[in-house]
Amino acid sequence: MGALRNKSILVGVTGSIAAYKAAEIVRLLRKKKAIVYPIMTKAATHFLSPLTLQNLASQKVTLKLFSRDIRKAEHLSLAELADACLIAPATANIIGKIANGIADDILTTIVLATKAPVLLAPAMNNMMYENPILQRNIGSLKAIGFKFIGPARGDLADGKIGLGRMTEPQEIVECLEKVMQSRDDFLGKAFVVTAGPTREPLDRVRFFSNYSSGKMGYALAEEGASRGARIVLISGPTSLDPPSGVEFHWVESAREMHKMVKEKMGEADGIVMSAAVSDYAPARKENGKIKKTTQKKFILELVQNPDILKELGQRKENKILVGFCAETKDLEKEALRKLKEKSLDLIVANNITEEGAGFKGDTNIVTLINNKGKVEHLSRRSKREVARVIWDKIREMIENRGL
Ligand SMILES: Cc1cc2nc3c(=O)[nH]c(=O)nc-3n(C[C@H](O)[C@H](O)[C@H](O)COP(=O)(O)O)c2cc1C
Repeated sequence: MGALRNKSILVGVTGSIAAYKAAEIVRLLRKKKAIVYPIMTKAATHFLSPLTLQNLASQKVTLKLFSRDIRKAEHLSLAELADACLIAPATANIIGKIANGIADDILTTIVLATKAPVLLAPAMNNMMYENPILQRNIGSLKAIGFKFIGPARGDLADGKIGLGRMTEPQEIVECLEKVMQSRDDFLGKAFVVTAGPTREPLDRVRFFSNYSSGKMGYALAEEGASRGARIVLISGPTSLDPPSGVEFHWVESAREMHKMVKEKMGEADGIVMSAAVSDYAPARKENGKIKKTTQKKFILELVQNPDILKELGQRKENKILVGFCAETKDLEKEALRKLKEKSLDLIVANNITEEGAGFKGDTNIVTLINNKGKVEHLSRRSKREVARVIWDKIREMIENRGL
């Protein structure tokens, strides 16, 4: 699998004559199946029409920090979803702003907010490039891990020959690919991830379910896929779009999820069970609709659903098994009990009564406990960030076991 496949790449374009080459960069990235999010500075739009990038990229072009929808902090969502941020061409101005922590437009704000690697391909006149202020800015960015591609020596836009010409698009994309390759730490590994709630039918029109949104599981699937893992996502009913690059299976009830997990677990190196599977289901499903009667009470018989996690724990062999638990009290005690009872390698526990944790929101506050009893509390962070930490832990387990 190519290192750029299904990777979310932000392509920042700034106000240089070389901006037209950004169109070719976007085209090449799309050819490599990357998901491309172009971001243009105001100056860049004098050199290249957003329409051009809009037609080449898979996602809309972002131009403004302040969108009409005031509820949206687009800079944060883009910063978060990015697997890498490439700025090509990068003007002397943008390099200076980033080096000094300035965040006064959408691009610089994203760069300040993202944890993804940032690569810059400078393009400018040789006098600008040789200026000691710019050189100092480049030096301080390199020192904190920013990567520079080029510039090259050659024909400059003003007719002179010198150092400052942007590296050719093909080479820029190859550099980015190499950076992404080094982050493909799950290449060759396969995981089953479950997500969302289950629905337990009562009759033709009613079901039991829970408030799980599936967001945690989908973030896990996305993060795993972006790091090179082959992901089978088995999801209960959610309103989310299936992430690209994963094998997706939609199920409804706990029994359907159980069947699908058993079917798919064979070749997997591990299973991450983040779905909120219903413990009980109505003993029988009425064929039609249960009608209202004159009786004041309605007594319903429930039967236990299969305990998927426990069963997996009994049959896991060398597979890595990660479970989740949502509790309202005694979080650690309950999590430890489940970890042992179900032979898990890692349990991710969250107290759903805490503000910013649990089912519906975009953030979570979790406690991780591994099979050696090591407890780690993670402060409130986005579900994608939580997913990153979970995959890091899985990576460590794979290394420790020599898998
Ligand atoms: C015709 C023209 C060409 C320019 N080419 C470059 C360039 O190649 N590199 C550069 O650093 N600045 C160049 N500039 C200056 C930038 O456009 C200017 O510094 C601008 O403020 C950059 O804004 P941005 O970094 O937000 O895109 C050029 C300006 C003009 C008018």
